[in-house]
Amino acid sequence: MRVAVFSTKPYDRRFLSAANRDEGHELIFLEARLSPETARLAAGAEVVCAFVNDDLGRPVIEALGQHGIRLVALRSAGFNHVDLAAAAGHGIRVGRVPAYSPHAVAEHTVALILTLNRKTHRAYNRVREGNFTLDGLMGFDLVGKTVGIVGSGKIGVALARIMAGFGCTILAHDPYPSAECEALGVRFVGTEELLGSSDIISLHCPLTPQTHHLIDARAIAAMKPGVMLINTSRGAVIDTRAVIQGLKSGAIGSLGLDVYEEEEQLFFEDRSDRIIPDDQFARLLTFPNVLITGHQAFFTEEALSAIAETTIGNITAFETTGAPLHEVP
Ligand code: NAI
Repeated sequence: MRVAVFSTKPYDRRFLSAANRDEGHELIFLEARLSPETARLAAGAEVVCAFVNDDLGRPVIEALGQHGIRLVALRSAGFNHVDLAAAAGHGIRVGRVPAYSPHAVAEHTVALILTLNRKTHRAYNRVREGNFTLDGLMGFDLVGKTVGIVGSGKIGVALARIMAGFGCTILAHDPYPSAECEALGVRFVGTEELLGSSDIISLHCPLTPQTHHLIDARAIAAMKPGVMLINTSRGAVIDTRAVIQGLKSGAIGSLGLDVYEEEEQLFFEDRSDRIIPDDQFARLLTFPNVLITGHQAFFTEEALSAIAETTIGNITAFETTGAPLHEVP
């Protein structure tokens, strides 16, 4: 099939081309992010392959429908950026990659936790400058601390397994408690108890209307003072404005983010010679106890290989059966 692949980087080309070797789809790699302005680049293709920050709102879907697109093959697990009603209305099927490497995201979450706690990012710079003082680098033992996991799906379970290894007590909140978590000794609780009892809170739920700004001023007020908050799920699960207030007051002791509400204007590009136009993001960067990575939690060899294999599998299944292997919803 002829596939317009948006938002591609050299690594996407490498892994998708390898996965496509025996399938023979015609992959047209485009660097452009999918948006109302770039949707016309899909003309002549039957499939659009898109990533997390591509715009798949109604105007874009309508344009894709007019260009004859029949399948959107997402290279992501999350599909909150797709107007599914618009896609259904235009007869466009949507496929996704439900699981590629939950370990990649869970392990990155642990990297954020350990770095924020033991301040290795600051220690690295100090030692390179010949400063061997320890003031300001004090952390805490993870053993015996309580970790609250919001969303005990594939990534939440992988994180629970690792944190159990550290000797942490683990609480979780999920409308569908997982037996796998319970077998690890995780206790499922309501949000209030999770917020009030956790030393570290990590978010692993999808972005839905119910989870939009789940972490707002009220939720922050219910947390243990000085809590460590980690978000590797989707930016808008937290209300950034409220979190900045929480950092300023000390209610939040440290913050690790791999995702950001307005990240599509920033992430995945080199903007080092430009001024950051987003004042909230710029403010976050001023806190010494905030660590931000640019949506890289998924970024391992294993995950990229699995994403490419499943994406090409979705396209091949659509070609042969009329439906992708992993259809949304
Ligand atoms: P999953 O679908 O296996 O698990 C999500 C869990 O969240 C489910 O158990 C669901 O019941 C639960 N949930 C739904 N609504 C909830 C609520 N209101 N409160 C608490 N729990 C709720 O998904 P998976 O694979 O574990 O991924 C989780 C999220 O991580 C994805 O939706 C995606 O947004 C994000 N993600 C981020 C990546 C990154 O690179 N930073 C990479 C991959 C996923």
